[in-house]
Amino acid sequence: MVPLKKNSLGVGTMRQFNNILVTGGCGFIGSNFIRFIFEDSEFSGRIINADKLTYAGNPENIEDLENKFNHRYFFFREDICNKKTIGDIIKKMKIDAVCHFAAESHVDRSIAEPDAFIKTNINGTFNLLELARKHRDQIKLFHHVSTDEVYGSLGETGLFTETTPYCPSSPYSASKAASDHLVQAYAATYGLPVTISNCSNNYGPYQFPEKLIPLIILNALGGKCLPVYGDGKNIRDWLYVTDHCCAVWEIMKAGRTGETYNIGGRCEKKNIDVVNTICSILNDIDPDDKNNPHEKLIEFVKDRPGHDLRYAIDFSKLENELGWTPEETFETGLEKTIRWYVDNTRWVERVKSGEYLKWVEMHYGK
Ligand code: NAD
Ligand code: DAU
Repeated sequence: MVPLKKNSLGVGTMRQFNNILVTGGCGFIGSNFIRFIFEDSEFSGRIINADKLTYAGNPENIEDLENKFNHRYFFFREDICNKKTIGDIIKKMKIDAVCHFAAESHVDRSIAEPDAFIKTNINGTFNLLELARKHRDQIKLFHHVSTDEVYGSLGETGLFTETTPYCPSSPYSASKAASDHLVQAYAATYGLPVTISNCSNNYGPYQFPEKLIPLIILNALGGKCLPVYGDGKNIRDWLYVTDHCCAVWEIMKAGRTGETYNIGGRCEKKNIDVVNTICSILNDIDPDDKNNPHEKLIEFVKDRPGHDLRYAIDFSKLENELGWTPEETFETGLEKTIRWYVDNTRWVERVKSGEYLKWVEMHYGK
């Protein structure tokens, strides 16, 4: 992190929070975020995690933190669509900030079954906004975590800026776009103190293996087909997950109220190049692996309908106002990520076999 160049709240003032409601804190980015801010020695408050525990929510992503920070970490298995229970949490836990990650997040699932995307991403966000409005006296900030996919697709050139018009292609991105508009409307109409971040593709530890990078790593390790949609030339702008967490935390602490900030990696890669790089790292990790060279497992498969060609982010607003830039390069981030999936066999096996879902059912019911 480059030191803050200027503080948008005024010199020497940073927002401070005592009780942050993190929604979706058992998912990939939410769990990394909770870990990240507990490691910030300047944060001494409590984290209250409300997560429905869908297939993508895995309490094992944060089980170490439950023990380490047991006086400062609280978990509620709750659906953000439930006004009564989430309202009770906001009141009883004296919530003074919301960091809203909870969402249905996988584009392919949204194409197959959009229903849950509308419920959670639109109605769920609406519900949280209504509750934040009701508890205005105690909420200092509502931070909404969103995606660059709301902007649609770029051609061969150009970058998404905060003023790029919204043009979502999938039910997932349309539902996130709707939620962003609701958040903006609550700021404009009711003066709710909000910030929004629109980030590009994340990768790193604890990502559910339906997304490209963990799927390719685990399939390659298991000698299975590596599916590449279409011709593999679609481009994504990759960002290591802790860099995203750091950016969200900086925005929460010092971002200007009512503003949107783009977050990205300045790291455009064609999908086929990402897959080839993973194969090559795995070939080197174990030169005797029977699946070497892993590239032979690559298969070009039917394209995703409405597949956006290219995402690339201009994050100069965040860089100039808050001094944030990514710390990891694609090379260092990918090495760390592959190493994590290779080393964390218990997590991987329990996710692949669905064993963690049985644990959830045993502890919390269906
Ligand atoms: P994820 O699918 O790994 O996790 C989502 C979490 O939300 C899970 O723990 C799930 O149980 C929970 N959840 C789902 N529905 C819920 C509901 N109704 N009530 C309470 N909890 C619910 O997702 P992720 O990749 O960690 O993404 C988190 C957020 O970041 C999302 O809002 C997503 O749109 C956004 N985002 C993701 C990326 C990315 O590359 N993964 C990039 C930019 C933005
Ligand atoms: O850009 C931010 C978004 O990135 C987030 O908002 C989403 O929550 C997150 O899922 C991600 O969306 P993508 O659709 O870009 O990610 P995914 O990992 O599904 O796919 C990345 C690229 O790889 C995309 O061009 C499709 C392609 N792909 C994906 C899978 C799962 C393949 O070629 N083969 C695959 O098996």
